[in-house]
Amino acid sequence: MIALGCDHGGYAIKEAVRGYLEESGIEYKDFGTYSEESVDYPIYAKKVAESVACGECEKGILCCGTGIGISIAANKVKGIRAAVVTNEFCAEMTRRHNDANILAMGGRVINEKQAVDFTRIFLETPFDGGRHINRVNMITEIENEN
Ligand code: RB5
Repeated sequence: MIALGCDHGGYAIKEAVRGYLEESGIEYKDFGTYSEESVDYPIYAKKVAESVACGECEKGILCCGTGIGISIAANKVKGIRAAVVTNEFCAEMTRRHNDANILAMGGRVINEKQAVDFTRIFLETPFDGGRHINRVNMITEIENEN
């Protein structure tokens, strides 16, 4: 199950991603927002991040105007590694090296096709493990110390 969330700035690309998941038969839970009416992105970041952190959803996709605010908010939830992605290389590498569990994108930065392409890469790319395990664990240690 994939958790989806956005604010008004990310609504169009969230809808494009939702269409892709629907067509691909990938189960998702859409936490909103459901229109382009102005809303506050931390609300949706929290819903999606908590759903991933508790294991209800395996991964999350969050979209706002830049992808930045919504990822900062999501990263405040324990266990979340949300990455803002603006190209295919980063979509792949944040899975391979960072084991990111939330993909964040900006509707004022990328187009709908890019959002779908980055989502596909993000969902299909496994974590490399190996030397990256210790580094990801070190991130968790920082989280646990604070
Ligand atoms: C909303 O105008 C905008 O600030 C938001 O979508 C996002 O870009 C914040 O980081």
